[in-house]
Amino acid sequence: MDIRIFNNTEEIAAAASEIIISKVKSCPDAILGLATGASPVATYKKLIAAYEAGVISFKDVKTFNLDEYCSIPATDKNSYYTFMHENLFNFIDVLEENVHVPNGNPENAEEYCAAYDESIKNAGGIDIQVLGIGRNGHIGFNEPSDAFTAGTYKVKLTESTIEANKIYFESENDVPREAITMGVQSITNAKEIILIAEGKAKAQAIHDMIKGEVSPSCPASILQKHNNVHIFIDKDAASLL
Ligand code: PGA
Repeated sequence: MDIRIFNNTEEIAAAASEIIISKVKSCPDAILGLATGASPVATYKKLIAAYEAGVISFKDVKTFNLDEYCSIPATDKNSYYTFMHENLFNFIDVLEENVHVPNGNPENAEEYCAAYDESIKNAGGIDIQVLGIGRNGHIGFNEPSDAFTAGTYKVKLTESTIEANKIYFESENDVPREAITMGVQSITNAKEIILIAEGKAKAQAIHDMIKGEVSPSCPASILQKHNNVHIFIDKDAASLL
């Protein structure tokens, strides 16, 4: 694991975006795995700045997002589809047809999820996956459980995740209880992974991911087994290491 501890959000974003920018420069049709949440926003701003400066183009890039809420439409202000457009896609030249955010309301979830994994595979697999981490060690919406998950699937969110996400909704009752998420196996199939975390609330999860045993009780701990992972964190998130 390439573990780097930075002073602030700006430094984390500079390091994370540098890896993505150099990948897109050397491989203009790179496949990017993207995440929502607060953690990657500053990195996305740097990607937008690099696009605006003419340093990179996303016109041949394909993107696959980790997850999407069920029970709200893609057009909802709290959907991850909306989040990605408002924080990245609307400001770069990626083609809408090359953008993939899971459909949170598929008719047949099982078939839809298998097809989502198949489209990642057919695209050639994810070159770089951007990840955040939950306070409970989740990646995507893979919550602590008894077994590591495989491909994309429909999941029930845990109370701690609902609690963490309620800041985005008017009331806790509005937070969706289910989501479509890439499974742990789909995530770790990525050739390279950049995990970003900041703040004391993430310190225990970061500790368990890096120093704990590899266990589905901390889904992110699986990253210990991946051969190309960058963990970019601030001093607070690193405080229990
Ligand atoms: P955050 O979420 O980036 O908003 O902290 C990360 C996650 O829960 O995976």
